Amino acid sequence: MTFDTIETDRPLRGVVVGAGFIGGQWAPELLAHPQTSLAGWVDVDEERARAAAGKLGLDDLPVSASLTAVLDGEEPDFIVNCTVPQAHHDVTVTALRRGVSVLSEKPMAVSLDEARSMVRAADESRRLFVVNQNRRFMPTLVAFRRTVADLGPLGLLTSEFFMPYRNKNFLDTLEHPLLQDMSIHLFDAARAVSGADPVSVYCESFRPSWTWYAGACSATAIFEMTGGLRYTFAGSWSAPGQPTSWTGSWRAAGTRGTALWGGDGHAPTAEAADGQVVRAYAPGSDPFPGRRRFGGLAEGLEEFVTGLRTGRAPQGEGHDNIRSLAMVTAALESARTGMRVPITL
Ligand SMILES: NC(=O)c1ccc[n+]([C@@H]2O[C@H](COP(=O)([O-])OP(=O)(O)OC[C@H]3O[C@@H](n4cnc5c(N)ncnc54)[C@H](O)[C@@H]3O)[C@@H](O)[C@H]2O)c1
Repeated sequence: MTFDTIETDRPLRGVVVGAGFIGGQWAPELLAHPQTSLAGWVDVDEERARAAAGKLGLDDLPVSASLTAVLDGEEPDFIVNCTVPQAHHDVTVTALRRGVSVLSEKPMAVSLDEARSMVRAADESRRLFVVNQNRRFMPTLVAFRRTVADLGPLGLLTSEFFMPYRNKNFLDTLEHPLLQDMSIHLFDAARAVSGADPVSVYCESFRPSWTWYAGACSATAIFEMTGGLRYTFAGSWSAPGQPTSWTGSWRAAGTRGTALWGGDGHAPTAEAADGQVVRAYAPGSDPFPGRRRFGGLAEGLEEFVTGLRTGRAPQGEGHDNIRSLAMVTAALESARTGMRVPITL
């Protein structure tokens, strides 16, 4: 993967696309970063974009329902794709084909075919395309990752995600709400923590009798990963009590010992196997203290800007992040067919 760097010494001009919940979190990040500026806001519902800009006191910001009008009129260096997953492909490819780099919300796309076409478009246009998996920057996840790296070759990695989530939103419309929406966070974290990539998966997705979801809100999956590691996932949006954290609850077993992590604000712990020495790393402090913000966006923007300036690929660069999406699409295929599915890109 190669992409062109931007040599100008002015701040990079960004356009936010999508003025819903997460778009409203990203715009302040572009305003806060010393090397970026907010050049426009797009939403198919133009009034929504105007209202979102107004809330930040940006009454003169160019807003539009037309992405191409803003790309042509404002000539941004990058967009932040904050649209719904079904729109990610078209918005991203439209920007890339006009020579505009893309920082996108997860998931990259709703199918692997779409994702491949997006990565191809980035290559052909020599532009940077990144999916920001914001949890990778969580200080406790980074500490768990460092702790796991000291365990030697891994044999088992497990994560549980149990949440009693009742909001009436788009999740209600999905056939497999846990796999299609939430699982990418856990699957990408499994890749980040282990450094391994997926080989195959067997997955079941189902409805427990007590659930309030119409779709299959619970799932179990066994992934074979590179190096022979097995990563297992169990989760439910309909936890009947005892929820885990929003990043789940984790265990890693390696040659030298075991590490546990409760997710979110929990520091990891570690215990050595007989005759071995391991240590649990302490989480680092917030790199942006004193600022009210949605975690992991400022860090993702920082890596993206550094990437555009230096050519260094950020975490979540398309060729890498497509491997996390492939875990989701293969798990869905396994759930639908009842077969173990090889994971190919
Ligand atoms: N990283 C996280 O923790 C996190 C948290 C929330 C949402 N997200 C992701 O962010 C994305 C958006 O989620 P949300 O909660 O903000 O949704 P939302 O429904 O609140 O907002 C989406 C906005 O996109 C607009 N839109 C849809 N299609 C468009 C198009 N083609 N062009 C321009 N605008 C379009 C809609 O009108 C809406 O205003 C999703 O992919 C979601 O998974 C990530």
